[in-house]
Amino acid sequence: MATVAERAVGAIVGATVADAAAQPLHWIYKLQTLDSIIASEEAPEFGQPSANPFYRIETGRNSCYGDQAYVILESLAECQGLDIADLKQRMYRMFGPGTDYDDAQNLEYKPHEGVKASYPINGSWRQASIKDFLKNTEAGKDDTGSEEDDQVDGATKVAPLVALYAGQPCMLEKVEDALRVTQNSDTALAAGLTTARILEQFVLYGKRDGVIETVMEEMRKPDRKNPTDLDQAMVSFLQKVLDNRGGQHREVVTTVFSQD
Ligand SMILES: *[C@@H]1O[C@H](CO)[C@@H](O)[C@H](O)[C@H]1NC(C)=O
Repeated sequence: MATVAERAVGAIVGATVADAAAQPLHWIYKLQTLDSIIASEEAPEFGQPSANPFYRIETGRNSCYGDQAYVILESLAECQGLDIADLKQRMYRMFGPGTDYDDAQNLEYKPHEGVKASYPINGSWRQASIKDFLKNTEAGKDDTGSEEDDQVDGATKVAPLVALYAGQPCMLEKVEDALRVTQNSDTALAAGLTTARILEQFVLYGKRDGVIETVMEEMRKPDRKNPTDLDQAMVSFLQKVLDNRGGQHREVVTTVFSQD
């Protein structure tokens, strides 16, 4: 990982492989269940068969997050850069009617309904922002992104964009335009842009100390690029992360960052 190009490739490959590795264990919200699965596994990544309670796909395939990143990567490569019209078409082709994401049970699912007795479904899981994207596209809207969904999709798919545009003045603009295709909500956007800023540091400069601090400093500047109203909240959040860096993951997640 000596050069910017190697680290850019590493960011894409790393994010893709990590997504596939985690897929069989993601969305297991019952800690007891998760604990009992991983207790018997020396290496829980790429678990087989998948223990995902909502949907079953073959281990090794990407989740609905990795598939979005893949579509972005493919579009960037085919168009030699970000082309929003092309990206919209490819997103529709990956997630729309007739695809592995097209499932009657999934269609009926409302956010936060939880696992039903008839789950897991056989096939990929189409999540909230993608459902809104499809609806908006079919309604002929220009703004295809979900207005409400503020989940983590934005952050999970920035790698190909950062890899291509790292170090260029337009990087955040490209990330913002791409993210708005499926998520047009403040939180999703602010978190996605913050993730892109952090990843860009690692792509440009490799592993080094002080990356989070550098990004926080940048985000406090009045003349920063692509400002959002939530940037100061993101900075406070990052500070909390730094303050709790020495803590145990589960302890910190369930106490410091718990919304309950
Ligand atoms: C998924 O496939 C398995 C094996 O064919 C079957 O037993 C199960 O009922 C299917 N699940 C759904 C939700 O259709």
